[in-house]
Amino acid sequence: SKDLLTDRFGRTVTSLRISLTNRCNLDCIYCHSEGDEGTRNEMTVEMIAQIVDTASKFGVNKVKFSGGEPLVRTDFEDILKALPELKDVSVTTNGVLLKGRAHDLKEAGLDRVNVSLDTLDPDKYAYITHGRPEDLYEVLEGIKAAIDAGLTPVKINMVLLKGINENEIDDMLDFVRGYSGDLVLQIIQVMDFRDGAQYDLDAKKIEEDLERRADDIRMRKMHHRKSYIINGAEVEFVRPIENAEFCANCNRLRITADGKLKPCLLVNDNLIDFTNAKQEELPELLRASIERRIPFYTDSEEKRIIEKKTIIGDRKDGS
Ligand code: GTP
Ligand code: 5AD
Repeated sequence: SKDLLTDRFGRTVTSLRISLTNRCNLDCIYCHSEGDEGTRNEMTVEMIAQIVDTASKFGVNKVKFSGGEPLVRTDFEDILKALPELKDVSVTTNGVLLKGRAHDLKEAGLDRVNVSLDTLDPDKYAYITHGRPEDLYEVLEGIKAAIDAGLTPVKINMVLLKGINENEIDDMLDFVRGYSGDLVLQIIQVMDFRDGAQYDLDAKKIEEDLERRADDIRMRKMHHRKSYIINGAEVEFVRPIENAEFCANCNRLRITADGKLKPCLLVNDNLIDFTNAKQEELPELLRASIERRIPFYTDSEEKRIIEKKTIIGDRKDGS
């Protein structure tokens, strides 16, 4: 339908991934900062509400908040309260500040949380995050509080790091099993940001090993990701690198902390600033951003052709 945000590759955007801030109370060795380390300017509650409102009129029904660390924004509850009715509102947090906020976040309209937790070892935790070993206990308390508040399923994001936590997958599976059904383990292939490259390992092989051990395999319709059931624990795998299927199924548009529409995590020269736009101009800007969406990894010839056209097109209107 013409009222949906569908790009030139037939991918319809149904999800906004909104960075609320670049500030963070941790400093992880591999952090990609959502591809955006720039500014200290942060969108206001009103700006966020307006862009979500507009996008929701064009079929977007899911919002993911991220950072930096989104919970360092003390007005996060106000942001949640200002949103229109949506199918799925979630946040990805490091969990350090979660315990005291979980209940209020739920009350304000948050549906669920993902918590970044790469290790269950306090010293490794401090090494990875440049935080304190004790922060790990805050995170574990935060996870419990999120479950109690009904922010479930809580996904545990474990970025696989060579030489650091590659042997902890089974411990993590045990941890997830301990909260029967409320937790899902999400294992993530490290992307090459900051010091990411040195921790890279063969994620495909590790996923294949898990697949072999699985008692059951489900397809999560929402993002075409498989999930494996291993002795009662559910585990998903995020493997974006050189993965054409991941990009082919991408249904999200990013919004940077300072109010720019960003078509792809891995591309930084095609952003559209909407902070000075009037509400009635937002649909047009959303469409313009959707037009700039090109799968980063692809098997097809189509991408090359469209990229070429885009460059020529940009020259024509002088940009
Ligand atoms: P839900 O399943 O809805 O909770 O979303 P998610 O699991 O995609 O969100 P989360 O914030 O937990 O991100 C998990 C991993 O996917 C992180 O490592 C993200 O950086 C990565 N990721 C999310 N979006 C993109 C994207 O657009 N491109 C790439 N390459 N990776 C992404
Ligand atoms: N590669 C993969 N995942 C990353 N994350 C942060 N940096 C990277 C990276 N270089 C993950 C965090 C968080 C999610 C938003 O992105 O662990 O859970």
